[in-house]
Amino acid sequence: MKGRMPIVEALYAHVKRKATSWHVPGHKNGTLLKDLPSFLEWDKTELSGLDDFHHPEEAIYEAKLLLRQIYDASDSHFLVNGSTVGNWGMLAAVASRGDRIYVQRNSHKSVFNALEWLGLSPILMEPEYHHTTGISGNVSRETLEEALKLYPGGTAVFLTSPTYYGETAQIKELVQLTKSHNLPLLVDEAHGAHFGEAFGISSAFELGATAVVQSAHKTLPALTMAAWIHERFTNNERRKLKHALQAFQTSSPSYLLMASLDFARNHRQQWTGQQMAEVRFSHELFHQQINQLDGLKAFTFEDWSRMILSHSNHSGKELLDALEKQGLDAEFALGDHVVCILPLRILPKLEREVWITQIKTALDTMKAKGIPDKRYIGQPIMGKIKVSSLACPLDQLECFEGVEQSFEEAVGTIALETIIPYPPGVPLILRGERVTLEHITLIEQYITASIHLQGGELLHEGKLRVIQEGIME
Ligand SMILES: Cc1ncc(COP(=O)(O)O)c(C=O)c1O
Repeated sequence: MKGRMPIVEALYAHVKRKATSWHVPGHKNGTLLKDLPSFLEWDKTELSGLDDFHHPEEAIYEAKLLLRQIYDASDSHFLVNGSTVGNWGMLAAVASRGDRIYVQRNSHKSVFNALEWLGLSPILMEPEYHHTTGISGNVSRETLEEALKLYPGGTAVFLTSPTYYGETAQIKELVQLTKSHNLPLLVDEAHGAHFGEAFGISSAFELGATAVVQSAHKTLPALTMAAWIHERFTNNERRKLKHALQAFQTSSPSYLLMASLDFARNHRQQWTGQQMAEVRFSHELFHQQINQLDGLKAFTFEDWSRMILSHSNHSGKELLDALEKQGLDAEFALGDHVVCILPLRILPKLEREVWITQIKTALDTMKAKGIPDKRYIGQPIMGKIKVSSLACPLDQLECFEGVEQSFEEAVGTIALETIIPYPPGVPLILRGERVTLEHITLIEQYITASIHLQGGELLHEGKLRVIQEGIME
């Protein structure tokens, strides 16, 4: 091939490694999607017989009907811009400018972006934390009750379940509570497209949530960006949802994405409880094999397909890098752990043994390096105050240009930048939040551990853009 194509070249190089995928997308390097042939020929536009994404009446409409049957939804909607656009759409469906939304503090950045651009006012609810691992979990019923009491008059509750770690919230209880306050419950279920009877964990939608968004691409065999919403909105809310989705999404939707959604829905519908029990058994055998290795521990929360690895002497980042060198690409590392999204199929004995050999080599190389990296970076534990609002309302932030201040000077001021370790994409500090010493310590720890941070133009110089003290008064 002639000429430079840096993205093409990077992908060629990456693919040439022939690494194992323990990360999204759920099609696992195409191995679970191989029934769709000759992909590029399928890259069509909305031609005769192919229907209209934003106004479906034919093939896309029919595929949507099949999709909504999965959870007996009032309606389901295909998305070609991930759960990101789904989060925007769900909020736009139920809320209007100025409305108060009760939102989980460890939500994905797309939720905070949507709140800001839709002119909504977040009431932040801290999740529970696992204090031994630093992993952040879900919002408790008590925290939601407190939020409703301290800040009455809100329009909707927005939660994330499961978390990136596969931990699910007490959705049944939370549904009861939101229903008793007559509030819609929206759930970012980006990591739970595989939930349902066969898998053994109910979707929040089955448990009564008003709407859920699921990134089919994360755990089912669908292409990256392919996602869907299931909802039981009122007619008016559905109208608002459709209006928002046609505005926020491309007018040239990819048929490759849509076909993969159709494929993923069908794939998921074929699962039986018996098959999934066998899949689960093989995953558990793999965890047991890992747990026999020196210093390494494998564990899961409710989602048994999401394996978390931690090592007694080494940081998650070190473990991630060592695994990667052996051709095992995991999803992300934070603190003392690595999150792996294993393939949703039976893991045969031979394959597990090959992986165990690769893991052993990774452990040996870490050990050979001599000095273990004991830097421990926990998840943001800011949970002393369970419920809070922003120090500066989101709709006022755009009035400020702000100033760059050293980390030290930034403590006590109001952040104008959202700083996000990516993945998992949960902000460390939000635009409009008052900067605390805890925020700064965490940012410094993440920088030292070379965790990739989004946002913060001058972070590398140890500076944050903030609103100067006094201006807000
Ligand atoms: C909890 C959560 N919600 C939403 C998203 C956005 O999903 P998508 O990548 O499908 O846009 C992510 C992405 O990682 C996520 O982790």
